[in-house]
Amino acid sequence: MENLTQPIIWENNSLKLIDQRILPHEKNFIEYNTMEETFHGIRDMVVRGAPCIGFTAIFGMALWCKENADKAFVASEFDKACDYLITSRPTAVNLEYEVNRCREIIKSNIADGKSINDCFTIISKMGIDEIQKAYETNRKMAGFFCDDLHEIYGPTKLKVLTHCNTGTLACGTIGTALGAITVLNEREMLKKVWVDETRPYLQGSRLTAFELVEQGIDHDIVVEGAASYLMRNGLVDAIVTGADRIALNGDTANKVGTSNLAIIANHYNIPFYVIAPLSSIDLSLKSGDEIKIELRDPNEILKIKDQQIAPIESSAYNPSFDITDAKLIKGIICEEGLFKGSDGLGALVK
Ligand code: MRU
Repeated sequence: MENLTQPIIWENNSLKLIDQRILPHEKNFIEYNTMEETFHGIRDMVVRGAPCIGFTAIFGMALWCKENADKAFVASEFDKACDYLITSRPTAVNLEYEVNRCREIIKSNIADGKSINDCFTIISKMGIDEIQKAYETNRKMAGFFCDDLHEIYGPTKLKVLTHCNTGTLACGTIGTALGAITVLNEREMLKKVWVDETRPYLQGSRLTAFELVEQGIDHDIVVEGAASYLMRNGLVDAIVTGADRIALNGDTANKVGTSNLAIIANHYNIPFYVIAPLSSIDLSLKSGDEIKIELRDPNEILKIKDQQIAPIESSAYNPSFDITDAKLIKGIICEEGLFKGSDGLGALVK
């Protein structure tokens, strides 16, 4: 773990984010001292991946407290700032989950007579603690994944395909889907990883491959279009991805291309798993139809870096996420265990 590149550093009461837009070839940290700057760090994808977006939001809230430490608390101004931060990216529920949690904590501390400066200390410590807690959570979820695969295949080495980036760069710790692959490797149950390059932002070929190199895990990068070829030819034993938002019925929003994988996997009878912490589950939504999908800049498709690839006259349409139907998911894994996708997550409603 210590050897893996950390995406979020809280140091000297400031936030530092590794610029994931220029990884893997350049490692550069950008410093953030205001909530407004943090908003742009999330929106411009300096930081990305649902859990890390959530952690960054907590530090963004801490930075709001730092900026306002000497001022009187005005609830309407504060609410406006919280609502604004939530709009930085719409699909990952972790963002609104963490902002709303901080909002409540700050308001109740102010009501108890604490100062905004006290809240700064409380919220920044919360950010550090949450990243630490995620390590335990990620390992626990990985255990459920490995056990299920052991039950299906017995003690053998498996070929696993993953999409987007769900490792330390997305989670601040070993990761959800990629963390499970790390643990599968530790248990000597991993033969190789197929890494979807993940067009157009290339989270797979730039970030997941980088993290697998850091861990010395055997992998090949493939284009998303190769999924059917790989599965038809017996080259994939399991597929595992993360999630940005999971609805009550188990429908799952994740990086665009995820649902294609699930559909093909079901055709070839290959188990398809989603691994995500409880903070990625939105029990207020009945189904995936209610999940807002982020539309991003068409230039992410039309250009690579700043180089125009498509005809200058062409336009592009760039939905950044898609919805995988719950019935296609063999297991949705969170801290509470493994849930069959078709059963939904009603069991989590207390
Ligand atoms: O647009 P991104 O890079 O933030 O999208 C990330 C993903 O879709 C991940 O798969 C998801 O957040 C799960 S991360 C553990």
